[in-house]
Amino acid sequence: MRHIPKFSDPNLLVGPSTEDDAAVYQISDDLALIQTVDFFPPIVDDPYDFGEIAAANAFSDVYAMGGNPILALNILGFPAKLSKEDVLGKIIQGGVAKATEAGVLIVGGHTVDDNEPKYGMSVTGIIKPGFEITNSGAQPGDVLVLTKPIGTGILTTASKFKKVNKKFLDQAVVTMKQLNDSASKAMSKVGVNACVDVTGFGLLGHLFKMLSASEVDAIVEFDKIPILEGVVEIADRNILPGGTKRNFESIQPYVKWDTTLTNAKKFIMCDAQTSGGLLISVPKDKLDEILIELKELGVETKAIVGEIAVRKSPEHPEIQIIKSASN
Ligand code: CO
Ligand code: CO
Ligand code: CO
Repeated sequence: MRHIPKFSDPNLLVGPSTEDDAAVYQISDDLALIQTVDFFPPIVDDPYDFGEIAAANAFSDVYAMGGNPILALNILGFPAKLSKEDVLGKIIQGGVAKATEAGVLIVGGHTVDDNEPKYGMSVTGIIKPGFEITNSGAQPGDVLVLTKPIGTGILTTASKFKKVNKKFLDQAVVTMKQLNDSASKAMSKVGVNACVDVTGFGLLGHLFKMLSASEVDAIVEFDKIPILEGVVEIADRNILPGGTKRNFESIQPYVKWDTTLTNAKKFIMCDAQTSGGLLISVPKDKLDEILIELKELGVETKAIVGEIAVRKSPEHPEIQIIKSASN
């Protein structure tokens, strides 16, 4: 990303400078395009599941901006020598199923020969200019609401080593397949200050991006974070994805940890997610309203995980982790 020049164009409403989920480009008074791309190697064994997850993940960056995804192009890497047409077909069918659910048309794509399979999409969404929800609007006093449990990175890594109960992995797959469409609709309806979707940089990494862009700090309450079943036990056995460890190392200088938290719990907060939930910065007086909207739209997880605070250091944001508010 740092190799991309800083464009300045009055129609570019959201560009790379705020490290937002997607770019937003104004076409007319009523219409702006949202543009984003995401693809990655399989994180689950079942090719159809993988296709669904990759598609849900690709649409998520549009939902995180408060937009509607409308068109997508498939991006596929697949080992030609394998020519396992059935596997390739199942990945694409999974993607099509998710796109159909989201109301997105897959209008083309491109496949290349690749030793390690990869799948994802380039997605185009739309939004009314001025209604885009970015990383940079969080205000001190806002409440942070998270719409999916975390721990998918730890669970999928453990499953590669056959060290996870199938029931726990299945729950992770269900959450990764879930679209963030309803959560997005709820926040757009209520009007919120900022949003990111929680993916590869983990809960704290994506929060950090929001805090940087918004020039604020945050307090996060560990006990309020929804964590998938089985994750704490696996992390306690030190089974962790490489990305999760790297996330932990890079966020470390900016976090003040509660001294009673185990290392495993610190890693969980940095766990690299795939197709995670939305982390929404909600003005306090709109909290009740958004919780009702999320409930009415069927969003199961709506956890109040923390609060935005005034920036202390001029150089960088700080995240304070408390175990529970009663401490
Ligand atoms: Co994102
Ligand atoms: Co992305
Ligand atoms: Co955003």
